[in-house]
Amino acid sequence: RKPVTVPSLRAMKAEGRRIVMLTAYDATFATQLELAGVDIALVGDSLGMVIQGHSSTLPVTLDHMVYHTSIVARGLSSTLLVADMPFMADRDVPHALEAAAQLVSEGGAAMVKIEGASPHILEAIEALVERAIPVCAHLGLTPQSVHKFGGFRIQGREQEAADHMVAQAQAVEAAGAALLVLEGIPTALGERITRAVSIPTIGIGAGPHCDGQVLVLQDMLGITPGKRPKFSKDFLAGRDSVAKAIAAYVEDVRTGAFPAPEHCFE
Ligand code: KIV
Ligand code: NA
Repeated sequence: RKPVTVPSLRAMKAEGRRIVMLTAYDATFATQLELAGVDIALVGDSLGMVIQGHSSTLPVTLDHMVYHTSIVARGLSSTLLVADMPFMADRDVPHALEAAAQLVSEGGAAMVKIEGASPHILEAIEALVERAIPVCAHLGLTPQSVHKFGGFRIQGREQEAADHMVAQAQAVEAAGAALLVLEGIPTALGERITRAVSIPTIGIGAGPHCDGQVLVLQDMLGITPGKRPKFSKDFLAGRDSVAKAIAAYVEDVRTGAFPAPEHCFE
């Protein structure tokens, strides 16, 4: 298959071809994503929870992210590789540039993901894009803000908060972000933001109207310790291999069968 590139994502949105994103943290699983035709592999700082066993993403360091990004990169050939900026790596523009440079040059990422849209984040997005490092923005239930939110809570339920998030989405696009992850928001807001921006949106608990979907690998294999999030689905249930589970996820995102109403928030 032809490599998935940053410019090709915009074309996918324009053509209405849904974008399939999935997390990976090591080379073995990265190869499974590659073989299943996943468009984007995300080395998420969710690795703090599903790999390291922490209860949040906050303990993840830049070194952890660079390491996992580099081992995922070895399993990929045509899949676009996106790496998360860990907590506080984006606290100011110089740190953001240094962190992103490591994720790209040592880790092999083609794009970095940053949570939020506060002024210093918009500045960081602009500075990275100016230096030819593509950026994926991330709004809604951004896990690095867990203490501010008082838990992992759905965001944008109130009209004012929803309007604010639409403005944030337009701001990250104006700053140069090429992709936007929307996490844990009502379906109607996911649809509204997807229409309000020209960059592709990737939903996780953001409804079926986003331009693509992302899940945490362990969640969609049904092996996350404890309770599986409502927005996820166990694709290994009733199937006899990881390869078939990932292939089913790819198929269901492309056809729009996933997410179903039970995975969404009203
Ligand atoms: O860390 C992660 O896996 C993420 C996705 C859930 C979007 O940021
Ligand atoms: Na993340």
